Amino acid sequence: MKNTINIKALQGIFLLILFTVTIGCKRDNNYPGHAYFNDMAYSQAFETYSSSPIFSDSIVMMLPVEGTVPRGEIPYQYTKTFDDQQKAGAELINPAELNKENLQRGKVQYDIFCAMCHGERGNGDGHLYTNKLFPVQPTSLTGDYVQNKPDGEIYHVITLGSLSGLMGAHGSLIKPGDRWKIVSYLRNEFVVK
Ligand code: HEC
Repeated sequence: MKNTINIKALQGIFLLILFTVTIGCKRDNNYPGHAYFNDMAYSQAFETYSSSPIFSDSIVMMLPVEGTVPRGEIPYQYTKTFDDQQKAGAELINPAELNKENLQRGKVQYDIFCAMCHGERGNGDGHLYTNKLFPVQPTSLTGDYVQNKPDGEIYHVITLGSLSGLMGAHGSLIKPGDRWKIVSYLRNEFVVK
């Protein structure tokens, strides 16, 4: 007799658990069930691609105001013209301190972004050229032509590419600080002074 009651009680508890578990589930995947914190389960924000009753064009994803730049980013004020390249050379000053750490950083970035064309030692003999994958010989960075250019002009070429367009712009690939360190590197490590 005693045993029967226990089993019934257990059955009861089991059914109660089953009921509690299943009541929390729904077929709709977007419905998270009963929520203790409603405002966290159901976002008050508009979905990215939904329409907005607030803005006149009803687009939720508004474009940033014209002229907006990312925090910490300074827009580059020169354009890809001969005059601006000269101007950049005359006006820009390399802010990178000349030390071992910065030269090392310059080397790492040079090896990633320039060496395949200009060669590991800057002689214009990178593997893309020697393997005939790049059709024109990249300028030697050790020769007088580049070494006589002011730092700002080399920085300008890295940022916007060469005037002929044979070398592409690297401004979106390399951070400004790193571009200057590359300039320091190819100035100080390629040429025995
Ligand atoms: C895809 C191959 C390629 C890559 C990558 C490349 N260059 Fe060049 N670079 C060239 C070629 C080709 C020229 C010659 C362009 C010309 O005469 O217009 C050139 C020219 C230059 C010049 C001389 C520009 C001038 O005014 O005549 C400099 C300085 C230079 N590159 C530096 C760099 C640096 C620094 C990097 C790495 C950030 C780099 N290049 C990456 C191919 C490349």
